[in-house]
Amino acid sequence: MGMSVRDVATRAGVSVGTVSNVLNRPDKVSPSTVAKVRAAIEELGFVRNDAARQLRAGRSLSIGLIVLDVSNPFFTDVARGAEDRAAEDGLTVLLGNSDENEDREAAYVDLFEKQRVHGVLISPVGDASSRLDALHRRGIPTVLVDRPTTDDRFSSVAVDDVAGGYLAAQHLLETGRRTLAFVGGPQELRQVADRLAGAQKAVAEIADASLEYIATDGLTVLQGRKVGESIRERDATDLPDGLFAANDLVAMGLLQALSMLGALSVPEDIAIVGYDDIDFATAAVVPLTSIRQPSSLIGSTAVDLLMKEADASADFTREHVVFQPELIVRESSAPKA
Ligand code: RIB
Repeated sequence: MGMSVRDVATRAGVSVGTVSNVLNRPDKVSPSTVAKVRAAIEELGFVRNDAARQLRAGRSLSIGLIVLDVSNPFFTDVARGAEDRAAEDGLTVLLGNSDENEDREAAYVDLFEKQRVHGVLISPVGDASSRLDALHRRGIPTVLVDRPTTDDRFSSVAVDDVAGGYLAAQHLLETGRRTLAFVGGPQELRQVADRLAGAQKAVAEIADASLEYIATDGLTVLQGRKVGESIRERDATDLPDGLFAANDLVAMGLLQALSMLGALSVPEDIAIVGYDDIDFATAAVVPLTSIRQPSSLIGSTAVDLLMKEADASADFTREHVVFQPELIVRESSAPKA
């Protein structure tokens, strides 16, 4: 059995409450007492048991994570990063899939509240304002995942998707493409809107470049394949020479449809760039150029932000973390011959 707070108190000749203050609010304890307690902690090899502390606080030892699409490897990477970080504090992660559906999202918010989870990490469907208001009203620590926000009721962690969209289109333009198309949707998804906006910004900087918007009903391989098939049917004079897919699943679908039947070749006839840099991207029949998101780091950072809020010490403030995307160049966008 490991050393307890009581052992440390006896060793240091102080009360258990003083030891707790040294652990949680050292600024409230005299420096000499802090030094005495820390010496006792060192000598005894005391390890703070966060799980027990949280159990006493009446919160469960689980975190609720609601993702947009559990079949998208991006979100399983996010979940994995969250899970590994949560385990460091003795917590587990309950995973819910909203499937980009607001009713399912609301059902998971209610379920996690009933489970009295330690907190909720949510990648919201649309603006999700009613669900987020409910979480805030119920006093459940909540972190927005993959959603930049200035709403100071919640901490958030995201990637600058406008910058990511700009990188993707700029890369296609730099390899000589001029008739681009953005493939993805629905535009209500913040990720789609931001990536499209970034691409439009890059195209606007090149006089003879154009960007067509090809909307989809979702960000899946099937949706990408449907668009690829329609592009394959187009007249040769109406073909884009560069496609920017809103995520790698759509890009994989495009790649499959375009390279089938030998109609068009990637990248010779049409270049493709995806988004997320999921593992499949590298292993694709034509390795996919993609915009990498630090998916695992997004997950672990979200838990960091949640733990700070759940254990809010006096000087706690919420944070809005924004990571930068990275262009990973592979064969699917090799320069035009
Ligand atoms: O689910 C929508 C997309 O947004 C994912 O593919 C990932 O890119 C996320 O940021």
